[in-house]
Amino acid sequence: TDAPASSVVKPHPPEMENKSADADACGAPAVPAASPPKEVPVPAAYLESTSHHLPSLDEYNALYARSVADPAAFWSDIAREFHWHKPWPADTPPIAWNYDPRAGPVFTHFWKGGQTNICYNALDVHVAAGGGDTVAFFFEPNDPDDGRARTVTYAALLADVCRTAHALRAAGVGRGDAVVTYMPMGVELPTVMLAAARIGAVHSVVFGGFSPVALAGRLAAANAAVMVTCDGVRRGSKWIDLKAVADEAVAIAAREHNHTVRSQIVVASGSRPAGGEDVLMTPGRDVWWDDALQGHPSTCDVVWVDAEDPLFCLFTSGSTGAPKGIVHTVGGYMVGAATTFKYSFNYMPGDVFFCTADCGWITGHTYVTYGPLLNRATQVVFEGIPTHPDAGRLWGIVAKYGVTAVYTAPTALRSLKRAGDEFVTSHNTSSLKILGTVGEPINPEAWDWYYSIVGNRRATVVDSYWQTETGGHVVAPLPVAGLVLKPGAAQLPHFGVVPALLDDDGKVVEGEGSGHLVISAPWPSALRTLMGDHKRMESIYFTRFPGYYATGDGARRDADGHLWLTGRTDDVLNVSAHLLGTAEIESAIVAVPGIAESAVVGVPHEVTGEAIYAFVVLMPGTKGGDALRAEITASLRVRIGPIARVETIQWVGARGLPKTRSGKILRRLLRKIAVGGGRDGDLGDVSTLADPDVLTDLLDGYGK
Ligand code: WT7
Repeated sequence: TDAPASSVVKPHPPEMENKSADADACGAPAVPAASPPKEVPVPAAYLESTSHHLPSLDEYNALYARSVADPAAFWSDIAREFHWHKPWPADTPPIAWNYDPRAGPVFTHFWKGGQTNICYNALDVHVAAGGGDTVAFFFEPNDPDDGRARTVTYAALLADVCRTAHALRAAGVGRGDAVVTYMPMGVELPTVMLAAARIGAVHSVVFGGFSPVALAGRLAAANAAVMVTCDGVRRGSKWIDLKAVADEAVAIAAREHNHTVRSQIVVASGSRPAGGEDVLMTPGRDVWWDDALQGHPSTCDVVWVDAEDPLFCLFTSGSTGAPKGIVHTVGGYMVGAATTFKYSFNYMPGDVFFCTADCGWITGHTYVTYGPLLNRATQVVFEGIPTHPDAGRLWGIVAKYGVTAVYTAPTALRSLKRAGDEFVTSHNTSSLKILGTVGEPINPEAWDWYYSIVGNRRATVVDSYWQTETGGHVVAPLPVAGLVLKPGAAQLPHFGVVPALLDDDGKVVEGEGSGHLVISAPWPSALRTLMGDHKRMESIYFTRFPGYYATGDGARRDADGHLWLTGRTDDVLNVSAHLLGTAEIESAIVAVPGIAESAVVGVPHEVTGEAIYAFVVLMPGTKGGDALRAEITASLRVRIGPIARVETIQWVGARGLPKTRSGKILRRLLRKIAVGGGRDGDLGDVSTLADPDVLTDLLDGYGK
């Protein structure tokens, strides 16, 4: 790939004309302004509606200053609010790190030598403090009238987690062993995560939309002998047979990775279509969840682990090679998840939190399983999708449970906005105080719709920027008095996060300007390593800019010092707030017979943010067309999953792709062509091209 990343830093968000469309906060109908507002103060109605962990911007500034001036003291004071079985040693620094690979191996340690357990802090502590009757989860099934809706208290959850912990042990899971889950979103998924954490095991959640091949690779990479799965799930109106995928993955893992899955625990969904195929259970390997839990006590001793022991491994896409198994550890992740949840969403007792993410992604780990439970929060766990049975589903849930904070992705907002305001206004959303977004930059139009239509200009928007690697929020406009929100900007660094912008040469960009977003000191929930490949972690995140963690995102700092994320600077696409590496997509495409080579780029898309545009080079004698397109779609489904959907294919003839003399594909040129550019000679510098004639063919082929 052509490396100069600055060339792909996306342009700044357009400046908006009108300064304030929310001047009519009292009374006027909530209609988004003709063009979105440029600045909106955190609304007074929000500020008056609740008490505050952090009352004002001044207090944020003071606390932030302390968090970066003395991170060890700042974070250790917070860590002491948790239960430690054994405190971290007093004679060594509570925090240690090296971010410069030239000085030795990269590492991050928070409270190494201290012993704790995140499950104990998320459940036992609250139950012991009299919170056993507090609701942990309101489970909302895919279909609104489904009788499976239920309420789970902290006491009930603790009992289930303990029985599950025993069941995992009975399946042979011990301290440090991996457990993979391949399950739908529901109460059982966080239950398994917490049960694994309770006994010192390492969970690795695989999203229930990944294909058998993808699941097999993760089972092997995580080295998991035990998988917890489900017979299936109804997502929207589709039935997805997860057990069939799990079985196929186990077979592929054995065949292609020489990896054995010894045991599968299978949750019965209770929503399997009548008259369909039976669930195939392999004797000696597969056991139903109810049978596995049967007879186990509802209490279970906690395994105390080191703060730096691994808690989980979660796979995410990178620009090259196989997905990266991001490893987070117990102590730092616990403190980071709890603290960011508390301050970003200003959670107060009695509030009802609703994160729409699946635990298959980091958002579900940090802001369903851990952040809320560590704060003794009450939340909605939703099995379904925002558009089923109609585009009002999320707002119906808000009304049903009196949700005070909702947390979702801009792509969902854009598709719901398209469906029409009446899907919102037909529900009572007045309980909302916080409107969170995550996953991609939010466009100001979607922001304005969220703010005006969903939140009635009474709730404040928290545009949280973070990554699987960061474990929790790193940049977000906290809901504090005195802050002026800027639609499209994530704005303020979270506590302990020291962001910097670097130019292509690694020189620090001071003041206003754009560059590579890096972080110069560790925060508690920072990634610690990549599963089985520490060198790869050093080379991906710490080598280009030694001394810094490189996010892979570009950002701009405005005159107020606020950060605007401008998109990935590497070959990773963000489709519907999910990352996909160009390399993994391309290898699925070239696996199709008759295809010689492929290069994919991202193009802007109204709903999904980015869409995949594939240049596909055909072998002599092969013809591009619908049949080949169907084969490509199938290959992507099998190797990655349905999220990897190519929007546009451009067939490329014998001249092939634009390459440098050393054989690197010039993606910068392909991006221009994909968005319809280049016809008027604005392709920029093409002097490094080995064969300038390829451009003529590519420009000719556009749109055909
Ligand atoms: C990438 C991380 C973080 C949980 C979900 C995604 C992009 C995420 C924002 C935001 C602009 C954002 C970045 C980042 N991203 N949130 N608020 N504004 N960009 O986790 O799959 O690890 O993806 O998502 O490009 O690097 P992930």
